[in-house]
Amino acid sequence: MRSLKKKELLDIDDILSLSWSWRPSMLMLQAHNAGIFDAIAGGPKSADEIAAILNFDPRSTLLVLLGLSGVGLLEKSGQTFNNIEVIEKHFIKSSDDYKGNIFELDHRALANWMRIPEIVESGEPIPKPERTPDETKAWHEIFIKAMDDIAHRFSKRMFEALPLKDGMEILDIGCGPATYMIEFCKRMKNLSSVCFDKPQSEHIVNDFAHKAGVGERIKFIGGDLTKSQFSFGSLFDGILISQVLHIFGEEEAKSLLKKAEMVLAPGGFIAIHEMTLGPDKDPGPAAVFAIQMMLGTKQGSVYSKDTIKGWFKDLGMSWEKVIRIDQRSEVMIVRKSA
Ligand SMILES: C[S@@+](CC[C@H](N)C(=O)[O-])C[C@H]1O[C@@H](n2cnc3c(N)ncnc32)[C@H](O)[C@@H]1O
Repeated sequence: MRSLKKKELLDIDDILSLSWSWRPSMLMLQAHNAGIFDAIAGGPKSADEIAAILNFDPRSTLLVLLGLSGVGLLEKSGQTFNNIEVIEKHFIKSSDDYKGNIFELDHRALANWMRIPEIVESGEPIPKPERTPDETKAWHEIFIKAMDDIAHRFSKRMFEALPLKDGMEILDIGCGPATYMIEFCKRMKNLSSVCFDKPQSEHIVNDFAHKAGVGERIKFIGGDLTKSQFSFGSLFDGILISQVLHIFGEEEAKSLLKKAEMVLAPGGFIAIHEMTLGPDKDPGPAAVFAIQMMLGTKQGSVYSKDTIKGWFKDLGMSWEKVIRIDQRSEVMIVRKSA
């Protein structure tokens, strides 16, 4: 598939390619959801064997397998199909190094994105699906593990971006799986962190932190970040707020930053990791994420660096630097005067 050029340079081939491009992605998510990669796990199998394992129609199964091979997710050899190495290693549900939790989120997002016309008209987000407490717990676990898979890819860059010093105590607001703080603690033997998230995240954070050998230095506190004052005793040397601001509208986001500033020690830093909108004429790839927020939240959005900079200016904090983390996200470092 052609990679997209900058918007003003798109030609008709790009547009037609964009129109087609949801198909391979839909096929991959549906195949994963249907257990096709799991059925193939362990070695090459014929379409009939795979259909028998899954109790599927043989002809339809063959066509799906051909499609998956066409996309490059399977290797076809004669009459057999095998998972490519990365699928076998990371996207089989029984894998020790499973990275497919994000597929579950994306699979659910497919249905939500079909509802864009309705949501644009009403301005109301899609109500959260009704779930039993067990289903809610299971869903939260998938969400947090998906965040972990994503965050692992950025943890080295994040470590290099933050002005950390060994011995600091860092507050991580909306820590999710606490991937960043766990990784930072592994790299700095005297760093410690208070990690704040919904109470449902506690067992995951504790489990990950203990497995990483840094459980003693990661203290999880559960609560609602829109209500907590984060006053847990001492002031923090630094505060990380990663991929959280977009959940909220401007007023809630500003109120969160104000509360953070109040528990920050003089001279301390706040690091905001966010998907940021580009300049006026080129909102950039993060702008597509705003749709996700429109579908799922009442006020959530994607903000520009200038907007976030303005919020910190109002708090009297100084803007130190911006470091790009990937195509969509950046880290912004701001400092409280000493
Ligand atoms: C997109 S995730 C980011 C996780 C992590 N900071 C990262 O960058 O990998 C947003 C996190 O905010 C948490 N969160 C959202 N609303 C919250 C609330 N009202 N109170 C506490 N945590 C909340 C979610 O549970 C989730 O872990």
